[in-house]
Amino acid sequence: MPGLDIEAYQKAFEGEIEAVDSLQALEELKVKYLGRKGILAQLTGSIPQLPQGERAGFGQRANIFKNRINLLIAEKQGALIPQGGPYDLPAASGVDIGMPGYVQEPGHLHPITQTIDEICLIFSRMGFSIVEGPEIETEYNNFTGLNIPLDHPSRDAFDTFYLKGAQHLLLRSHTSPVQIREMKSTKPPLAVVVPGRVYRPDATDASHLFMFHQVEGFLVDQGIRFSDLKGILEVFLKNVFGREIKTRFRPHFFPFTEPSAEVDISCSICKGAGCSSCGQKGWLEILGSGMIHPNVLKNVGYDNKKYSGFAFGMGIERIAMLKYGINDIRLFCENDLRFLRQF
Ligand code: DAH
Repeated sequence: MPGLDIEAYQKAFEGEIEAVDSLQALEELKVKYLGRKGILAQLTGSIPQLPQGERAGFGQRANIFKNRINLLIAEKQGALIPQGGPYDLPAASGVDIGMPGYVQEPGHLHPITQTIDEICLIFSRMGFSIVEGPEIETEYNNFTGLNIPLDHPSRDAFDTFYLKGAQHLLLRSHTSPVQIREMKSTKPPLAVVVPGRVYRPDATDASHLFMFHQVEGFLVDQGIRFSDLKGILEVFLKNVFGREIKTRFRPHFFPFTEPSAEVDISCSICKGAGCSSCGQKGWLEILGSGMIHPNVLKNVGYDNKKYSGFAFGMGIERIAMLKYGINDIRLFCENDLRFLRQF
């Protein structure tokens, strides 16, 4: 080796590092030049033996050589490290390859949107059109037009958020007012489903939200009977919950339908035998329905001697909870990805 000839060492080093083709060989070369007993240590260790006048210059050149070695080693290291790892070795290029990358995750539709789409698809295959209405509604469309008079007790259950300064405007408490809007603007026959948000002054708990979603449906033509309602709802419910479920129509009261019925499906967990999911009843309440009240037909200007129709309304969150076995309605609006990713 060239004694104390720094330039000759540098040439030799550049040749050797050029030939290095593995991280291990690089490490060995690093030890050879920068190690405790390496070439650089020998060079700097020999400084005291040099004549006084040469020491500073020699020290400087040795230092430059050391920096050059470090630079070339780092560059070589960057070239030898495979893309993406190992994470504890920084690349010389200035790019920190150890930094976690950004993964662009594709999103998907919210389970409530998926449930609305599924329901609307089933009805559109049966010839229903899909219509939406405003969430700010008139008191008339939400109540009076639907045969719910001002002093009627059933109004309490969904008496709602009125808009300040606008006496007769409110956040709709159900999607039924779209019946009034649609029937006023369209002559029968008509068959419509209406998905949308509704608002109620309910305290939030595992089964209540002050804002939730409903789908309303209605059909008007000559000679429509309760059996038409039964047939349509049975097809619909079997499509959503499976062919094997049974349906049951229970007499009920709604001001805008006469007769009215609540519709239950057999509990899919106990198959009707009774379990904790259905409160030992064997049945789960799923929607409200009935024949459109003659007063409602009259309110929209239809001849109620000539036309008849049926209507139904259901809560989307409830359908989704029963379909997917979800026990807390609040999960739908918490934006917890661990929940949402399951759909
Ligand atoms: N609007 C009712 C509610 O919010 C649901 C409903 C029941 C709608 C019976 C209807 C119906 O069209 O016929 O509770």
